[in-house]
Amino acid sequence: MAEKASGKVDMEKIVSLCQRRGYIFPSSEIYGGLSSCWDYGPLGVELKRNIKEAWWRSVVQERDDMVGLDTSILMHPQVWVASGHLEQFADPLVECKQCHLRWRADELKDNSCPSCGGEVTEPQQFNLMFKTFMGPVEEDANIVYLRPETAQGMFVNFQNILNTTRKRLPFGVAQIGKAFRNEITTGNFIFRSREFEQMEIEYFVKPGTDDEWFDYWLEERYNWYVNLGIKKENLQLRQHAKGELAHYARKCYDIDYLFPMGWSELEGVANRGDFDLTQHATHSGKSLSYLDEETNQHIVPCVIEPSAGVDRSALAFLCDAYVEEPDKEEIRVLLRFHPTIAPVKVAVLPLSKRENLVELAKKVYADLRPCWMVQYDDTQSIGRRYRRQDEIGTPFCVTVDFQSLEDNQATIRERDSMNQIRVPISELKSTLQAKLEGEDLFVLPQGSQIWKVEREEKSV
Ligand code: GAP
Repeated sequence: MAEKASGKVDMEKIVSLCQRRGYIFPSSEIYGGLSSCWDYGPLGVELKRNIKEAWWRSVVQERDDMVGLDTSILMHPQVWVASGHLEQFADPLVECKQCHLRWRADELKDNSCPSCGGEVTEPQQFNLMFKTFMGPVEEDANIVYLRPETAQGMFVNFQNILNTTRKRLPFGVAQIGKAFRNEITTGNFIFRSREFEQMEIEYFVKPGTDDEWFDYWLEERYNWYVNLGIKKENLQLRQHAKGELAHYARKCYDIDYLFPMGWSELEGVANRGDFDLTQHATHSGKSLSYLDEETNQHIVPCVIEPSAGVDRSALAFLCDAYVEEPDKEEIRVLLRFHPTIAPVKVAVLPLSKRENLVELAKKVYADLRPCWMVQYDDTQSIGRRYRRQDEIGTPFCVTVDFQSLEDNQATIRERDSMNQIRVPISELKSTLQAKLEGEDLFVLPQGSQIWKVEREEKSV
């Protein structure tokens, strides 16, 4: 990891907000937690769903050259022999002779234990794949592995995809799913865990065009983060040095994000060449070649692989959105999520708990909730409820007040500016839709008005 991030949010603040508001909890918390495993709470699960849906939309739904897949976590053990994972997916492990803590040798500054200073053992290769047994008998013949990447499911289905979709090169396959790695050192919250989710693309191209497609996908994936609100100054591209390349890669760039602990990998884009298809063809005895219609020759395509982590993306979106700003005597904490990413899009808040207000607010709530994730909240003061929605990143609050009972209008409050407009209740749905798609708050539907401009108020 590179230099310590300056001016960035503390990880402790993100962890605390995530636990306090129901984004992320330690796994099995009532039993003291399970190292490097996390549970996504009611807001976290929506955040992850939104990230995955935005990714799927951009790489599958809106493209002619991509198809989706969902393959099993347990695969034939030969898959991992062919892919090289059984032999090469390992980190050098050392153990402290004094306190017996284990470390990754390549992460130690010298030959001493970072915890107690004791001498460490010689490094041994430690395979990161989790093993389990298939069937009732626990013997070596029945060992299977939890997949350490989703990629192999796409390679072994190459012929199935070709036969059933009639796709021609270049085309790609996309998959979202869980992966498991028995990491030696974990930490930094959800950045490195032992169970995580990946969003991977295997994009098959004609040999000779791979460099061009590599550049295309690197740019495409970088722009995906930027278009969803990640600040460019918090992203960088970093090429892997020769000695750093994974066993299958000809070339690789990381899209790094400036996390609280420094620049670290958010996504990797690799040129895997024809390594995987060739290996699986050799080990399975099945042809995984492609008939090039132009030359009438069988070729083995090259593969460009943009591989992203759902959990790392969630952490990057959380860190990038986190803002603290002075607000009168207090500090306002907000998550400035892009509306596509925000777990809750709209909150409906009656000004008080008076029966007729609650009734109208619940009608508005019932009308809006088929469109988006909407929250209804009638507890506490309106100020506190606004702050709560700011802190969980809700882009818009709709407030129903006593005047609403007479004029059938409600206010829409924008999270970032705190500005408000007053809109006929009949126009709420279409207005919110437009604002969530990026329309300026002050573009008003008929019969509406600017209600309150927070910045002017503040300067009074
Ligand atoms: N198929 C290629 C592959 O798996 P990788 O760089 O090892 O490449 C891809 O992993 C992405 O998966 C990473 O960029 C990261 O976002 C995510 N990832 C990998 N290991 C992880 C871990 N232990 N915890 C959370 N995310 C992880």
